[in-house]
Amino acid sequence: MLVVGCGYVGRRVARLLQADGQAVEAVVRGSASVARLKALGVRARLADLDSIEDGGLPALPAAASSVFYFVPPPGEGREDSRLRAWLHACGTGIPRRVVYISTTGVYGDCGGDWVEEDRPPNPGADRAWRRRVAEQALLSWSEASGVEVVILRVAGIYGPGRLPLARIRSGEPIVRRDEAPYTNRIHVDDLASLCVAAMRRGLPGRVYHACDGRPGNMTDYFHRVADAAGLPRLPEISLAEAEGRLSPGLLSYLRESRRLRNRRAREELGVTFRFPDLDAGLVDCLRR
Ligand SMILES: NC(=O)c1ccc[n+]([C@@H]2O[C@H](COP(=O)([O-])OP(=O)(O)OC[C@H]3O[C@@H](n4cnc5c(N)ncnc54)[C@H](OP(=O)(O)O)[C@@H]3O)[C@@H](O)[C@H]2O)c1
Repeated sequence: MLVVGCGYVGRRVARLLQADGQAVEAVVRGSASVARLKALGVRARLADLDSIEDGGLPALPAAASSVFYFVPPPGEGREDSRLRAWLHACGTGIPRRVVYISTTGVYGDCGGDWVEEDRPPNPGADRAWRRRVAEQALLSWSEASGVEVVILRVAGIYGPGRLPLARIRSGEPIVRRDEAPYTNRIHVDDLASLCVAAMRRGLPGRVYHACDGRPGNMTDYFHRVADAAGLPRLPEISLAEAEGRLSPGLLSYLRESRRLRNRRAREELGVTFRFPDLDAGLVDCLRR
């Protein structure tokens, strides 16, 4: 098993695989990550997908018949040059199967509708375009090469060390509850289980939502995290006021509202969620 981009999610996937007796290798960008993974018993090699030349990526290890690809796209533009570089670098050493983490952002704004996997993607923000372009590149590559690709469209990831506590401590306001969009989430441990299940049981070419299926209001989310952590709630402002005060990145999230169903992942991948809602997840995050 090879994890390309082995950070917060990848380390948990590696641990699950190791617990199942599988050898795990990884590709990361920084030497600090190599050392951190070594301590977990994962042999990691360095490659920067932003700068590799042709043939610059070390050949895929023999263990790489199954690849988890978790490297995020670059921060700008509408392309995923990193994924393109990796596909190119694979050359003929292609894997048998790839599990790819995409995002639910590919659906764009759905006006708060419930969304299933067969809804046509309609990306709005550039960050969502990069993901959609990456999904399409992978599926075309799959068709041409015969490599099986399974796509997980992942909601907002939370978990130990991944709560917006710094944002809450900053005191920067958030948008009023009645003007805030729906958001969707998944606890990192459930996401790791879904990734492993997708490698084992996902249908080739199939898309699965990775979310807990319990969408909530974005402002409620911040308030619930603040309450659980014993911090003061953030002040609320109107959407009109937010336009001048919040960052363009945050504003782009405020313009998108959708509620994601996860029936396909639960039924086809056979994963039982340890953290089926935010209440259960927050208890776990804050007790560690
Ligand atoms: N945060 C969310 O709510 C959310 C939602 C949906 C999807 N996702 C996606 O889920 C995936 C996994 O997330 P995560 O939290 O595990 O991310 P993460 O902790 O930032 O890990 C990303 C990994 O990719 C590697 N990487 C980054 N740039 C690279 C490059 N140019 N060349 C080679 N490797 C590179 C990093 O290497 P180093 O460790 O050496 O830095 C790291 O190992 C990402 O694609 C993320 O965008 C996130």
